[in-house]
Amino acid sequence: MTGRNPYIDVVEYVLPTGKYQLTLLPEKRVIEVDPEQIPEYHDGLPCSILQILLANGVEIDHACGGVCACSTCHVIVREGLPTCNESTDDEEDQLDLARGLTVSSRLACQCVPDGTTDMVVEIPEWNVNLISEEH
Ligand code: FES
Repeated sequence: MTGRNPYIDVVEYVLPTGKYQLTLLPEKRVIEVDPEQIPEYHDGLPCSILQILLANGVEIDHACGGVCACSTCHVIVREGLPTCNESTDDEEDQLDLARGLTVSSRLACQCVPDGTTDMVVEIPEWNVNLISEEH
């Protein structure tokens, strides 16, 4: 079961059915994403970028627990954005508060790739210090 914010609209997304790669910048670490192997975290939407990162030891900040109520899980999707669910007005409202906003910015907890292409995702530099070294 994942956490859900009852004060925002329900987010629509398509769960991935096959494996794909997510390259994490700036370290260029390649994560093999197997949707079958992503544990069900309480934080973030199922198979969201946040859940993928947490499952791979990446301790990205996510202060609200992945319920679209902060902007600390801000990531920049450099490749693969069209395969992700569309951001909602609630996500856009939170992103407006994020540092270094780009047209490819998403909240990691709300962004669910459908797995039909490989992804390149950048964690902004102010969050880099929080990345776990274990891998
Ligand atoms: Fe707060 Fe993603 S963790 S919005």
